[in-house]
Amino acid sequence: MTEGPHGPGKLRVLVVGGGAREHALVKAIARSPLVSETLALPGNAGIAREARCLPGKADDVPRVVEAARAERVDLVVVGPEAPLCVGLVDALAEAGIRAFGPTRAAAELEGSKAFSKQFMKRHGIPTSAFEVFDDADAAERFVRREGRGLVVKADGLAAGKGVVVAADVDEACAAIDEMMRKRAFGAAGARVVIEERVRGQEVSFHAICDGRRFVPLAAAQDHKRIFDGDRGPNTGGMGAYSPPPIVTPELHARIVDEVIARAVRGLAEDGRPFRGALFAGLMIDEDGTLNVLEFNVRFGDPETAVLLARLDADLVPYLDGAARGDLGALSDSAAPVVADPAVAVVVAAAGYPAAPRTGDPIGGLEAAERVETVSVLHAGTATRDGTLVSAGGRVLCVTARGADVDQAAERAYRAVDAIELAGGQHRRDIGASARRAASARRRRESPPTGAK
Ligand code: GLY
Repeated sequence: MTEGPHGPGKLRVLVVGGGAREHALVKAIARSPLVSETLALPGNAGIAREARCLPGKADDVPRVVEAARAERVDLVVVGPEAPLCVGLVDALAEAGIRAFGPTRAAAELEGSKAFSKQFMKRHGIPTSAFEVFDDADAAERFVRREGRGLVVKADGLAAGKGVVVAADVDEACAAIDEMMRKRAFGAAGARVVIEERVRGQEVSFHAICDGRRFVPLAAAQDHKRIFDGDRGPNTGGMGAYSPPPIVTPELHARIVDEVIARAVRGLAEDGRPFRGALFAGLMIDEDGTLNVLEFNVRFGDPETAVLLARLDADLVPYLDGAARGDLGALSDSAAPVVADPAVAVVVAAAGYPAAPRTGDPIGGLEAAERVETVSVLHAGTATRDGTLVSAGGRVLCVTARGADVDQAAERAYRAVDAIELAGGQHRRDIGASARRAASARRRRESPPTGAK
């Protein structure tokens, strides 16, 4: 099936990026019998235990191409969106190197919110009403006319910070001012999308695509706010769990038909065939109304931690098949997953998300990793003078599985509690909504004796 120049069926694989998502990918790739060596650029202190890390920046396209060529890599797996949006996969293709990830043209689905919303409208993918503005005064006039219930989004990439769910007209106008006049996100805010706010539960849905066909993965739910109860500023993601009870088998089928299939077909029809991980951020209302909030063109972080913890198959044939443009028989069914739920809890640095402090020693990892099923993924970590220290906003992602979400969360939190990081922050309620939904279902299915 797969074939590389380093032995029959053996591949040299380079993972680009250095977060918990890339650590989860590295772990899955390194244990594949199809792989002879796993490399990472730049990786982090945890990834360095399982892969050879190469110096450089993930979005430095010439450097990644040069490293892949020098190391005679067979497959490059690109983690973050930034290198995809500046054309890393196109440059690798020109150098004759196979890559998992979309071309620059297909990555515009994440790189431009205006393109993405117009694409969804053109291809009948459910999403809320919206307008696009290049002029701040016109955007403000629109907001004042429409009133409340609006979301303001910077068009370009803003490291997850360019979305403001405005409480009222003043907040929406302040967001327009910050993005368009003050250029808080640079050129990314020169254009904004203003859309109608939709309510419900957020769900992350991933599919691995080969340009024409796709393999759906399990659904997951992210927790974006820094504090328990979904309070405080937005972050890159403070934890995730899978599966979310709201995604019933019927809803799963609708997401595949109405979102993923239409997106994959639409991108192919538009001459931008999508190879890589397509990640739809969805809002699902109690009555089952489905809206796409955004598309991402890569695996989610921390979603990847729980998705790969539940994947019951070798990941490499999926990555390599997608990169080759031929998933073959793999696309005949969804990716197999274990029934056990998974929970991932992010441990972030003091000061995250506004001003994360770095350089704090990290301890207790051996004890954490001794907890049943636990895997401690590294994100912002580095080794300084032989000591493991924090080196970024999100530092670790502690992942566990269990017979139910309660057990998975109990194991993840037992491991988190063993970790020492001065000023470290984490949420205590990851998976709580799934636990509430599960106990409500148990009560419905077997009401207490004597219940009327
Ligand atoms: N967890 C959200 C993201 O990866 O964009």
